[in-house]
Amino acid sequence: MSVQTTTMYIGGQWVAAASGRTMDVIDPSSEQVIAKVPAAGAADVDRAVKAARAAFQGGWKEATAQERGRVLLRLAERIRARKAELAEIETRNNGKPIVESEYDIDDTATCFEYYGGLATKIHGEVLPVPAPALAMALREPVGVAGQIIPWNYPLLMAAWKLAPALAAGCACVLKPAEQTPLSILALAKDFEDVGIPKGVVSIITGDGPEAGGPLVSHADVNKIAFTGSQAVGKLIMRNAADTLKRVTLELGGKSPNIFFADSDFENAVDGALFGCFINQGEVCSAGSRVLVERSIYKKFVDATAEKAKKIRVGPGLDRQYNMGPLVSKEQYDRVVSYQSVGKKEAKVAAGGAAVTEYGKGFYVQPTVFYDVDNNAAIAREEIFGPVMSVIPFQDEADAIRIANDTSYGLAAAVWTRDIFKAMRVVKSLEAGIIWVNHMQPTYVEAPWGGYKMSGFGRELGKWGVEEYLETKQVYINLDEKPIGWYN
Ligand code: NAI
Ligand code: MG
Repeated sequence: MSVQTTTMYIGGQWVAAASGRTMDVIDPSSEQVIAKVPAAGAADVDRAVKAARAAFQGGWKEATAQERGRVLLRLAERIRARKAELAEIETRNNGKPIVESEYDIDDTATCFEYYGGLATKIHGEVLPVPAPALAMALREPVGVAGQIIPWNYPLLMAAWKLAPALAAGCACVLKPAEQTPLSILALAKDFEDVGIPKGVVSIITGDGPEAGGPLVSHADVNKIAFTGSQAVGKLIMRNAADTLKRVTLELGGKSPNIFFADSDFENAVDGALFGCFINQGEVCSAGSRVLVERSIYKKFVDATAEKAKKIRVGPGLDRQYNMGPLVSKEQYDRVVSYQSVGKKEAKVAAGGAAVTEYGKGFYVQPTVFYDVDNNAAIAREEIFGPVMSVIPFQDEADAIRIANDTSYGLAAAVWTRDIFKAMRVVKSLEAGIIWVNHMQPTYVEAPWGGYKMSGFGRELGKWGVEEYLETKQVYINLDEKPIGWYN
């Protein structure tokens, strides 16, 4: 079978890498190479940044908010029209169940729609200073934004980055994860047609150090927005220091999902599974630490394990399965090694190994460890796979202590029917996103981002667009005889 070699999208042109090099893209359900994409390097990044700067200065910066908004609304419409095609590409490349890709494509369109509407609501303020003057805060785009995204929600993460940046009036150079470039390349075919001027968005395909690295250190990039691992987040902050770039980081977590004895038991068990196993557990906000009140602990572990064993793991395009393969060999090896570590650190209630029945594909068993010590590696380190660590707690204070005993602070959830308890816990948790009696629902209207070592900056909602805006103070004197010392 011949494998298609694609080009990438730089400055409105479809091009190969300057070096001519390519990278393989794999279908994780079959381990087959499904495409070859350009392996971009510093020369390609430079070309994209130059195109972005030229497009920004040459018109996009001055495009009216209405024009920018309409572009985003047209793109949203195009995404809805191409939903089946884009969802299939996403599942082929990422592995996730096709229904989950369909949700992702809907959310992607909604994200562009939301920021299409928000574009015309970006405005400054007039400040009542104690002087005959008009003091104003004007909002302006930061300029050229470099955007580096992960492989777990490929097209949706592209939307979370591109939509607010374009609404703000920035030009973008986006680097998808090397594992999953196909959906955003497919969508880029529509960019010019919906009215995104050449150069305003470039998509450079390539790996982290070779393509992401030069984007982070490029002198003419004003801002880097990154979602990915903590290790790379630290590297990006360091590498952005020389050019004093604005940086926002979303670095995942080890999020607690807390169950009190008074919560609805069936919903709670489902909530633990959904909170941790959706998208194969490859979720930055995964509820990978499940904290359960002692009085229901045993029953909870048994019920969760029983349901975990019934999860049907198989190829994402086949609708009978509700968990797909992990995205890559690297991620598979990582998760399998944590499964081995977990078997030494804790007890196994379900899973604990790879799925071998297909003889190919990066499948692992949904895994429930229990009696996990919060100091264990499986309770402290982000695994990014369907691996749950269940930890018992005694009372509310104990639950809060364990929940906050982590370097991360992206998300948390609490389940109880007691509103007093729920709100006390909400106030005590150190995390940027808190759910009550659910875990994972994510809407573009509400802010997304972490406390502590989960990063900083917020995406989505009005907060998302703030990260792409500068604030310019303007003071207009209205006193015809202004105060001065020297006249
Ligand atoms: P990663 O952090 O290496 O990759 C994320 C993005 O960063 C990709 O686009 C990659 O090409 C880019 N990147 C890597 N090195 C870079 C560099 N030196 N300069 C600039 N860009 C660079 O994540 P990886 O290796 O794919 O996954 C490892 C672990 O990271 C996962 O097991 C998971 O724990 C965590 N992760 C967290 C995510 C989140 O949503 N917060 C998403 C993906 C991974
Ligand atoms: Mg990496």
